[in-house]
Amino acid sequence: MSAAWTPGSWRAKAATQQVEYSDPEELQRVLGRISGYLKIVTSWEIERLEQQLGEAARGERFLLQGGDCSERFADCQPHVIDAKLKILLMMGMVLVHGGNKRVIRVGRIAGQYAKPRSSDTETRDGVTLPSYRGDLVNRPAFTAADRAPDPARLLEGFHRAAMTLNFIRSLLAGGFGSVHHPEAWDLSFVEHADRPESHREVVRSIEGGVRFLETMLGRQLEELINVEFFTGHEGLHLAWEQAMCERPPLRDGWYDLGSHFPWIGERTRQLDGAHVEFFRGLRNPIGVKVGPSMEPAELVELCSVLDPDHKPGRLTLIHRMGRDRIGDRLPALVEAVLRAGWTVTWCCDPMHGNTYTTSGGIKTRRFDDILAELEQAFSVHEAVGSVLGGVHFELTGQDVTEVVGGARGMSEADLSRAYESDVDPRLNYEQSLEMAFLIARRLRGNGGR
Ligand code: PEP
Ligand code: CO
Repeated sequence: MSAAWTPGSWRAKAATQQVEYSDPEELQRVLGRISGYLKIVTSWEIERLEQQLGEAARGERFLLQGGDCSERFADCQPHVIDAKLKILLMMGMVLVHGGNKRVIRVGRIAGQYAKPRSSDTETRDGVTLPSYRGDLVNRPAFTAADRAPDPARLLEGFHRAAMTLNFIRSLLAGGFGSVHHPEAWDLSFVEHADRPESHREVVRSIEGGVRFLETMLGRQLEELINVEFFTGHEGLHLAWEQAMCERPPLRDGWYDLGSHFPWIGERTRQLDGAHVEFFRGLRNPIGVKVGPSMEPAELVELCSVLDPDHKPGRLTLIHRMGRDRIGDRLPALVEAVLRAGWTVTWCCDPMHGNTYTTSGGIKTRRFDDILAELEQAFSVHEAVGSVLGGVHFELTGQDVTEVVGGARGMSEADLSRAYESDVDPRLNYEQSLEMAFLIARRLRGNGGR
């Protein structure tokens, strides 16, 4: 690892999952424009998030991360963003109630536009075209024009990310009151759940708490609390991320001001690779996905490169093993990091190790597999004296049919009704809220009740 870091030092390293543009001059022109723009988030917000993630690492807060696998430009619409924010806030309230800890909300939103792919190309009926790499790069339709990487999309992505976060900030600043009042939530699915009484009890208890506070203080809850919300995305497209880096006045070092929390994906976490090189020099708190092929010594080495100062909050390790691998793979990794003296924020992504394709060719996940991986994650951390500091979901606030199971018993045959994702399947509104009830039960430590 070279000692001298600059926002462009990653260019000397091997970069996987990068895009070939046919017009490099146009690419440079676009990147130059982005560099010159006012950016999307601020350094003080980034520092606040790092401090809060440090508290999550020590078990004093709980991180809730969620949003689309891949945000579409077309979904930069009020009703879509509104629904996503609402479900994250509702889940957050349920988790606060369950864990008695403050929740950190980080959306996979306002910039989650670039996707890693297992193959650079896709072949259909003898025709081979570049793979769809997310709206930041190209379009999903299978034509040469749609699949050609277009630098103008980098600019479009920057603008859409800024618009999305601007809208979120407006929603949070007012007019979002019903979220704090569970009597206004759609809870009809609860009647179909395994233990509806226990879910109803949580809802009554939150309602009671909110009413009590409002009565005591003579104000509406939304006037009293300032809901903080942060953004994150996979920092995959390094040229785009670099263009959003700045050294703000009165601060030391470089911040990626495109989002608060960028993370390195499972496919780009090579120790000697370009992504690790880029991320190591950022002042943002950063995440790394950790899949089942990770070895303990490699993970410790990654910690020493990405978090040389052992700063709680700096590094979030997002494990995504799959329900059948987590029990084998996770304990040695957590023990190794603990033994080596790092306090990282451990977060469980129970989505990406549990994807399968139905006999009808639809990519999906089972609600029960997702829950089973989460349950095991809590147990593994407890058993080795660590703490699970958060969860990471692919979800949406809308009524899509992408994940099998949940209280309504979504079946594989139901999936085609409203399957919208171009990439990975997401929990829908009801499945997300149900998942929050089940995690909250676990956080309360009465998983068997
Ligand atoms: C993702 O988060 O959408 C993703 C591609 O995950 P991973 O890097 O863990 O495979
Ligand atoms: Co995904």
